[in-house]
Amino acid sequence: MLNILLQGFYMKTKILNNSRISSLSKLNRLLLSEPYNGAKSFILVDENTYTHCLPVLISKVSALENAEFFEVPVGEEAKSLEVAAQLWGALLDSGADRNSVILNLGGGCVSDIGGFVAAGFKRGIRYINIPTTLIGMIDAAIGGKTAVNVENAKNQVGFFHQPEAVCIYPDFLDTLEPKDLVSGIYEMAKTLLLCDKSAFDRLVRLASGCVKIPLKEIATFIPQCVDFKKSVVESDPCEKSIRKILNLGHTFGHAIESYLNEKVQPIPHGIAVGIGLKCELYLSVKKLGMSEKTYEDYCRMLHYLCELPKFTLKDTEGILSYMRLDKKNSDSLILCVLLQEIGAPVIDVALDENEIRDALLKFGKF
Ligand SMILES: NC(=O)c1ccc[n+]([C@@H]2O[C@H](COP(=O)([O-])OP(=O)(O)OC[C@H]3O[C@@H](n4cnc5c(N)ncnc54)[C@H](O)[C@@H]3O)[C@@H](O)[C@H]2O)c1
Ligand SMILES: [Zn+2]
Repeated sequence: MLNILLQGFYMKTKILNNSRISSLSKLNRLLLSEPYNGAKSFILVDENTYTHCLPVLISKVSALENAEFFEVPVGEEAKSLEVAAQLWGALLDSGADRNSVILNLGGGCVSDIGGFVAAGFKRGIRYINIPTTLIGMIDAAIGGKTAVNVENAKNQVGFFHQPEAVCIYPDFLDTLEPKDLVSGIYEMAKTLLLCDKSAFDRLVRLASGCVKIPLKEIATFIPQCVDFKKSVVESDPCEKSIRKILNLGHTFGHAIESYLNEKVQPIPHGIAVGIGLKCELYLSVKKLGMSEKTYEDYCRMLHYLCELPKFTLKDTEGILSYMRLDKKNSDSLILCVLLQEIGAPVIDVALDENEIRDALLKFGKF
């Protein structure tokens, strides 16, 4: 399987991809090289990556044999100011300094909190992401957006702080639970909808016709998703314009995730985005004339891969109240990314509240 080590963003960006040398060996070399030699290393894990991934990392990256590790709660609970404060205290107690490096071994929650902590500690120290989920590999670990949740609203406080390197080792995916794999497939669909119709069609065929998710085939899309994300981030690191396209599915998705997490039952981020994507593709057909076939193909895959919640009228109003909080809004308009067609996103499309209700109610009726 492919191994990638993405090293240093902007201008000096390098993607090392060599099938004969694993990305973990490249990471080892990097950590033994001059800029890291002698630096204190801290590995961030959650309970699952402690069990499934840390032993592999330590056995293959000898440079980390003296690293300390810190465990954060599993999932969104890790992304809080309280956890950040505990980690800053633990770093101080362990003698971390400006030269130290944090290695985030985990999914998007671990890299979001680890990046946040690195951005704040001593006004910014280095960090490396070693994503262990599909969402992490194709999206969360790349691009330097770090965040914590506040009052149950997603990603309300954060920094842009780029990782020094991103080390992608797809074998970590072998122990992922199906729901987390499905989450990653929906985020992957988002990326392919933004850039490549034939790849999107192939993903739909693969993911909606199988009894068991074909992990090896799904993993073949990782390099394309990584390249796409990297190129978008490089052209707009601080999300002033083009980078906003990556929020496709997320205006609805984040609100659905926050609402369900607080009022109903927690749902993985990628599954909320999958639902959000359906709502936004529905509005893309209605408002921008996107092909209905694209919408239907997507819906087929979405509903094939997992059972999804249904929304009542009360849920719709609850989700809408979270959408009003969304940080992508300017003034009182709710702004959203929609598609004219695959590969042709339009940013900052203003939605009125009845259009949002319509899309959410349409979702519930599927
Ligand atoms: N910063 C960004 O640009 C960006 C982009 C996309 C998503 N995100 C964020 O990422 C988060 C979602 O990412 P996620 O789904 O990776 O979340 P996650 O970190 O919660 O991982 C999902 C689950 O998989 C488990 N896990 C991780 N690796 C495993 C492995 N190899 N084997 C077994 N279990 C494993 C975790 O413990 C967790 O239970 C959300 O908070 C989202 O907002 C951030
Ligand atoms: Zn996402």
